[in-house]
Amino acid sequence: MNSGAEAVAIQRMTAAALAQVQAIAESLSEAPHWPPMAYLTAIDPDAAPRRIALVATGLQSGSVLAFAVASLLPPQAELETIAVAPESQRRSIGRQILTALMDELKAAGVHEFLLEVRSSNLPAIALYRALGFVPCGLRPGYYLDPVEDAVLMRLPLTEKSAWTRVDLA
Ligand SMILES: CC(C)(COP(=O)(O)OP(=O)(O)OC[C@H]1O[C@@H](n2cnc3c(N)ncnc32)[C@H](O)[C@@H]1OP(=O)(O)O)[C@@H](O)C(=O)NCCC(=O)NCCS
Repeated sequence: MNSGAEAVAIQRMTAAALAQVQAIAESLSEAPHWPPMAYLTAIDPDAAPRRIALVATGLQSGSVLAFAVASLLPPQAELETIAVAPESQRRSIGRQILTALMDELKAAGVHEFLLEVRSSNLPAIALYRALGFVPCGLRPGYYLDPVEDAVLMRLPLTEKSAWTRVDLA
């Protein structure tokens, strides 16, 4: 059940946040488990492709509660990872951080936001659908361990869309 939206500050991911970011990822079997170097690349402004990496921080606790990373090759971008700490799920934090990411992508000249998701990951698919993503393809056996199909989803960022702007703190 949704126990109510939690107020968070959404900011760029920094090196100081990486230990908490990795701890969240490792606590979730559905989240991609990146090596530390991948997170360092995600926050490196000189890395190619360019990435936008955001964290959502609890206003009271100051702790990182969620993060999301997209890679950009305008006019396209791809969601590489998104995760919300288990105890903070269903409080609209996934919606807030993804909305902020979409605003950032749009400002960067992205017109099409793409992602892949395990076909069994119904919470993530529900979140993406709630924000307007639609399925646009299937990659059979794309994921390993366990082997599973990837659902491809896309969201045009040029159309008048349902999300409301979130200003980064
Ligand atoms: C997917 C994930 C990011 C969603 O984050 P969240 O903060 O819990 O989602 P929100 O509270 O913002 O939910 C927004 C909407 O998404 C849908 N949704 C999210 N979780 C859902 C669930 N478990 N079941 C059904 N619908 C769900 C609902 O429509 C929800 O709106 P509502 O709460 O008003 O009904 C979170 O479950 C997560 O971190 N999962 C593990 C990592 C993962 O799977 N990442 C994606 C693959 S990289």
